[in-house]
Amino acid sequence: MQKLADTLKNYGINGEITNQTDGPVLKIIEFTPKAGTKLKNITAITEDIRREMAVSSLRIEASSENNSILFQIPKGNADIIDFNEQITTTNFEKAKSKYELPIYIGSDIKGELVVADLTKMPHLLVGGTTGSGKSVGLNSFILSLISAKKPSELKFVLIDPKKIEFSIYNNQKYLYHPVITETEEAIDMLSHLAQEMDRRYEILAESMCKNITDYNLKGEGHLPYIVCVIDEFADLIATDKNVEKDVIRLAQKARASGIHLILATQRPSVDVVTGVLKANFPTRISFKVASSADSRTILDSQGAEDLIGRGDALYLASNGELKRIHGAYMTDNDIKEILKPYQSPTKARKITTKEKETNTKTKEKKKDSWFKRIVKAWSDLRAKDRKMIINAIKGIFKFLFTIIINNSSKKK
Ligand SMILES: Nc1ncnc2c1ncn2[C@@H]1O[C@H](COP(=O)(O)OP(=O)(O)OP(=O)(O)O)[C@@H](O)[C@H]1O
Ligand SMILES: [Mg+2]
Repeated sequence: MQKLADTLKNYGINGEITNQTDGPVLKIIEFTPKAGTKLKNITAITEDIRREMAVSSLRIEASSENNSILFQIPKGNADIIDFNEQITTTNFEKAKSKYELPIYIGSDIKGELVVADLTKMPHLLVGGTTGSGKSVGLNSFILSLISAKKPSELKFVLIDPKKIEFSIYNNQKYLYHPVITETEEAIDMLSHLAQEMDRRYEILAESMCKNITDYNLKGEGHLPYIVCVIDEFADLIATDKNVEKDVIRLAQKARASGIHLILATQRPSVDVVTGVLKANFPTRISFKVASSADSRTILDSQGAEDLIGRGDALYLASNGELKRIHGAYMTDNDIKEILKPYQSPTKARKITTKEKETNTKTKEKKKDSWFKRIVKAWSDLRAKDRKMIINAIKGIFKFLFTIIINNSSKKK
């Protein structure tokens, strides 16, 4: 890669290429600059170097190991990182024993596994333009948690306003509630989770435990973790102002109660990814975005606009460290295969009309009349259940009718 050294020299940057390696997706050229060279002088000419080297994408990063600068360019024949392979590695096994809720983040540029504990994050914000790999990423987070925890220890609330991304998870023992696709229902669910958090805090206070790990160890009861994943939360925020309030309240307080949020959006505008939201989501991942402004909206730094798509991402850890990672890929069949042992014969319980009403009360919405509520409860029932109730009522009337007839014939 003498070309890189020559190009840099033309711009007055002297030094030498000290190493070159191929990661799964990128070629990484290590350049050790002459002492006294400022990194910002090199990053300032990134676009010129990219153009002169005729590569489609270039990212420049200081090495965390030595004084070198890492030039990352697409490898050409990128490997597809196989999710199944990744979660069966010994390193992931180790992470499973070390972390409470291990989330597979991806492979780093050299191909090393990157795993983090969701309980430490303690929530995750994901951004990226359409087709950049958000949903594949969310699936890998969900499935890595499933591979580490039993259905009794972990429940998911999956919110999918796009209606196609999470349908594969319906009828799973891991579901806290059937997959939610309607905005209204999603809004109710968030407010229900905020209530569930308060309920859990009361339980923890009563048994004098500071978090659910202590509570579950004490043996007085068992509370599963609840992980709420929203694949596209922009519309929810736009529909109802309470959504942001509920999300922020959950993000601020829910950690000890075992409730964690993973939010994704393809619309990283400042009215969706607000400052206050970001303040409560220190851990973030940005897949490729359209502009450096979008990158700053998600990560508070530019760079995600130079990513190459298909799972290529920047991961901002809760300690502020920014790392380039590549997500792993899985097909729908892979997902089905992983989920196969956890098929549930019954659907997850829907939150009842009564629970939804209590949520509504907390939001101080206008209350419906009792008649409207009965009509709504009735319409919320499944057709099968409605038929059962009608048959039961018919049966009761038949029974009463026979008694009345019998009594009156006896009197005669
Ligand atoms: N980690 C990956 N490795 C290889 N290819 C990937 C990876 N992630 C995504 N892709 C490719 O990109 C396509 C789009 O990914 P995905 O559906 O996750 O995008 P998205 O960000 O959710 O898009 P949208 O916003 O439209 O929902 C996938 O169908 C797949 O072909
Ligand atoms: Mg998607």
